[in-house]
Amino acid sequence: MVFELKSIYKDYMQGKEAVPVLKDITMSVDEGEYVAIMGPSGSGKSTLMNIIGCLDKQTKGDFIFDTADIMLCNDKQLSEIRNQKIGFVFQNFNLLPRQSALENVELPLLYAGVSKRKRRKLAEEALKRVGLEDRMLFKPTQLSGGQKQRVAIARAIVNQPKLLLADEPTGALDTKSGEQVMELFSELNRDGVTIVMITHEPEIAKCAKRIMHIRDGQLHAGDFRGSAEPVSAPETADAASQAAPQEETEAAEA
Ligand SMILES: Nc1ncnc2c1ncn2[C@@H]1O[C@H](COP(=O)(O)OP(=O)(O)OP(=O)(O)O)[C@@H](O)[C@H]1O
Ligand SMILES: [Mg+2]
Repeated sequence: MVFELKSIYKDYMQGKEAVPVLKDITMSVDEGEYVAIMGPSGSGKSTLMNIIGCLDKQTKGDFIFDTADIMLCNDKQLSEIRNQKIGFVFQNFNLLPRQSALENVELPLLYAGVSKRKRRKLAEEALKRVGLEDRMLFKPTQLSGGQKQRVAIARAIVNQPKLLLADEPTGALDTKSGEQVMELFSELNRDGVTIVMITHEPEIAKCAKRIMHIRDGQLHAGDFRGSAEPVSAPETADAASQAAPQEETEAAEA
């Protein structure tokens, strides 16, 4: 088990009035899973991501991340969990503009107190892992959008987190770069990385093995797409025509 949400509610205060945003959300994610959470704008995706990412606390309900009961954790404990157990990937990369790719990837290791030598080695390995061995000393402004996102992914995986948590990871990318990022996610997941990805794009969501839908703050279980499970009928004909070739591409590359 990576995490478990049990009957989670989140309200925001609007003046004196509590506005319910997440309503009775129950879900759990096991090691090795690849889950997409889909939903329209305003449905509560980022609110849910902030809770799963231990950036914010629920109003009510139990959230267990790894072995920690998050409601009982103080700020220091939460930041340790974020640093050591969660790798974040954001729509807008969130790289430090003046630092090289290598320095950006080293950052979580710096916070974790890893020695300089080991930081360098692990960051280099992570950048190789995402295919950027020839761009290690480039600054973000010298990289394309897709490359920037791959640096961000290298940073997210560099200390081998329990969970890779991505919020609209392809939202700022063109189609081709977005596809490359999705291929990378699939590869990482095949290597055992647990992924939860938030997206509003069906084409992106179907890269995951399990899709959940959030509507008006409520979560609805969706398709399982793990290899052992039959893939259920896609929602559109277009999705159907794309589902099969993707499997072939993956097989051809393997
Ligand atoms: N800090 C806040 N205070 C009050 N209301 C908030 C706050 N943050 C979010 N909300 C409300 O919660 C609801 C869900 O917002 P959230 O950002 O989670 O949506 P989302 O699904 O991520 O949307 P998008 O796809 O546009 O990013 C919205 O109605 C929003 O107005
Ligand atoms: Mg959002």
